[in-house]
Amino acid sequence: MPNTVLSRTPFRLATNRNADRSESALQSLREFLDPAFTAAARSEIRSWPGYAATPLIDLTGVARAVRVATIWYKDEGSRFGVGSFKALGGGYAVARIAARHVMRTAGLAGLSSLDLLSDRYRKIAAQATVTCATDGNHGRAVAWAAHKFGCRAVVYMASIVSPLREQAIQSFGAATIRSQGTHEDAARESREVAQRNGWFVVSETENASEPQIAFDTLAGYTTLLDEIASQLPDDRPPTHMFVQAGVGGLAATAACYGAARWGAARPVLIVVEALNADCILRSLELGEPVVVAGELDTIMAGLAAGETSGYAWRSLRVGAGFGMSIPDGAAVETMRLLADAPYGDPPVVAGESGVAGLAATLLAAQDESTRELIGLDETSRIVTIGTEGATDPAVYERLVGRPPGLP
Ligand SMILES: Cc1ncc(COP(=O)(O)O)c(C=O)c1O
Repeated sequence: MPNTVLSRTPFRLATNRNADRSESALQSLREFLDPAFTAAARSEIRSWPGYAATPLIDLTGVARAVRVATIWYKDEGSRFGVGSFKALGGGYAVARIAARHVMRTAGLAGLSSLDLLSDRYRKIAAQATVTCATDGNHGRAVAWAAHKFGCRAVVYMASIVSPLREQAIQSFGAATIRSQGTHEDAARESREVAQRNGWFVVSETENASEPQIAFDTLAGYTTLLDEIASQLPDDRPPTHMFVQAGVGGLAATAACYGAARWGAARPVLIVVEALNADCILRSLELGEPVVVAGELDTIMAGLAAGETSGYAWRSLRVGAGFGMSIPDGAAVETMRLLADAPYGDPPVVAGESGVAGLAATLLAAQDESTRELIGLDETSRIVTIGTEGATDPAVYERLVGRPPGLP
């Protein structure tokens, strides 16, 4: 019987009956995010000043406690000083928008985002405006990249987004606009304003002004997966990846990257959501996209999405093994577990959406029937992605009981 590391709270698990590990499914995942295209994105991101691979932390202590071989936690808290993995996706999409705008206007070809960092093209780049809707992290990434690559940013957000998250976005010089309604209302407003003014909507969903922007976003995310692959201690692929999802862009990227990198030996992908915003789990159950209506009430703000991205769904439909949705309490306990490190692992500061994959791993590994269903045992080598640090320090302090980083 594995130890109980988290309280035994109810969670949901769904088997994806369309999961397909055939050679043709493998090929379609490889083609969806073409490896040459994603490699170009990674090499551009690695050229940016301040780039550093984020740490892959080995949580052997807690892994032993739940009777698996290893749990790795990819800690995105330090990513480009933005605090989350979104710097890679929205950040790269903005860089490419700025580069395409300058090339079109100045009649140039082959401009990299690095070229934009020189003062030469700043006046032209400043004529382009990027916009998006955000729960916090995506907007911060877009504002950061707009500031870096010289374009204007206008970020829309729902009324419930916390004041500290809004301030973080404004600190990069972006204008912020609060919608009176939900995230979906904010997304609609940004889309309409963009259409009227010729702005660019940065999104990994069909909200993006052009599909290229969504694909650039996903390609940027492959950076963190590629880092993980080179940080693993040997050439063996992980057996499982637990990846949290809002609209599913990161999880879909993990499916495609896994197929391209490890082929038939790729890890089983478990897509993790909040119990009250489990649109992907329900879609996997039904075999077609399901919209979850209502408040999407969860403290895991980055996961509060009621509808999956159509782009993500195309690869998750065959590439996800399971959907799992977890209660807020499991995320809070996992934040405290990482901060207190009672099993001898290094302490980690992590935000409430950031810990979801790890929380799901622990809930799954300490439950006998779930272990059996998803194939977890003492030899399992599990990758989780800590998608954010303490992106809202006030929320962190309220949930963990002390400010980020204090022992
Ligand atoms: C910290 C964090 N983790 C995970 C996600 C989910 O990513 P996606 O919307 O690509 O599924 C988000 C989205 O905003 C996020 O902010």
